[in-house]
Amino acid sequence: MQNLMRTQPLTLAENAMDALTIDGLKCYYVNDYFGVRREIRAVDDISLTIRKNEIYGIAGESSSGKTSLIKTLAGAIRPPMRVVGGTVKFNFADGPIDVYGEPGKMKAARWRHLSYIMQGSMNVLNPVRRVKHAFTDFASRHMNLDPAATAHRFKGAKSRAEKEALADIALQRVGLSMAEIKGRFSHELSGGQLQRIAVARALIPEPKLIVADEPVSMVDASLRMSIVNLFRDLRDALNVSIVYITHDLATAYYISDRVVIMRKGVVVESGDARDVLEHPKHVYSIALKNAVLPPNPREASAILRLRQRNAETNEATSGSGDRLAR
Ligand SMILES: Nc1ncnc2c1ncn2[C@@H]1O[C@H](COP(=O)(O)OP(=O)(O)OP(=O)(O)O)[C@@H](O)[C@H]1O
Ligand SMILES: [Mg+2]
Repeated sequence: MQNLMRTQPLTLAENAMDALTIDGLKCYYVNDYFGVRREIRAVDDISLTIRKNEIYGIAGESSSGKTSLIKTLAGAIRPPMRVVGGTVKFNFADGPIDVYGEPGKMKAARWRHLSYIMQGSMNVLNPVRRVKHAFTDFASRHMNLDPAATAHRFKGAKSRAEKEALADIALQRVGLSMAEIKGRFSHELSGGQLQRIAVARALIPEPKLIVADEPVSMVDASLRMSIVNLFRDLRDALNVSIVYITHDLATAYYISDRVVIMRKGVVVESGDARDVLEHPKHVYSIALKNAVLPPNPREASAILRLRQRNAETNEATSGSGDRLAR
């Protein structure tokens, strides 16, 4: 049975290597309404790299394209979404993989190396199934998809007892245990516990990259810090890269090594998290920083739009330039 405890630190050279490279990525939603083509450019020419063992923040208001961007890097494309240009390349232990150029390789690697904590994942636990099944179902799904890799990964964890033991290790990593959740339904657990369960599930395949989409937007302020601290601890203990998507700049600042700020499908600002968030240059990043954002993305978005309009009015009247605007 594996122990989910890769504590050997990466060397400096390994740390500086890229885990993922996105180059000129374009991802559109294309619909045809009675012969009229409608196109939403959710990701419009984005290039970035994510290093091994780093926490990479992606921030931006609602509809800026954050979820679309990470779906493209997870290869989770469903119509009407289309990748219309650019490349996404992984660089995991078994060599580089071109996500859209080598779909066969990607399919195997996707389950072995990448875990995706979907937006609202704490709400997708089946309310009429006990939470412990979330783990055993998850483990079984992996086995069906890729038996060879799974046999290696789970070291023969086939029985329910073995799978539960495996789940228990992952749960203990996030400060829970199988004993605590056994026999309970999702409505009997707190938001923070559910969020931790979503993270624990993501740890089971021992990924090299965890992508977490708005993992703290639905929990209150006191829990938010404990969950972002958990991501930092996991990165340090497991040598994993984490992509942290949020509209909450305070937590992005707190845990990210580097950040990008997205707006309308493009990156408006990027760099070291301290530089970008302490001294934002783009008018939108300034508005985002000045906003005290509520956790609900829609409310946050409304506040941002208002503040951005005010900032643009101030810019126009003071005559200062917008250095990084497209
Ligand atoms: N299935 C879809 N069909 C058509 N358009 C879509 C679809 N999913 C998303 N979009 C559009 O793509 C754009 C980017 O959406 P996306 O979900 O990536 O934004 P986001 O930054 O994750 O927003 P939020 O913070 O609210 O989660 C939006 O204009 C959205 O309306
Ligand atoms: Mg989203």
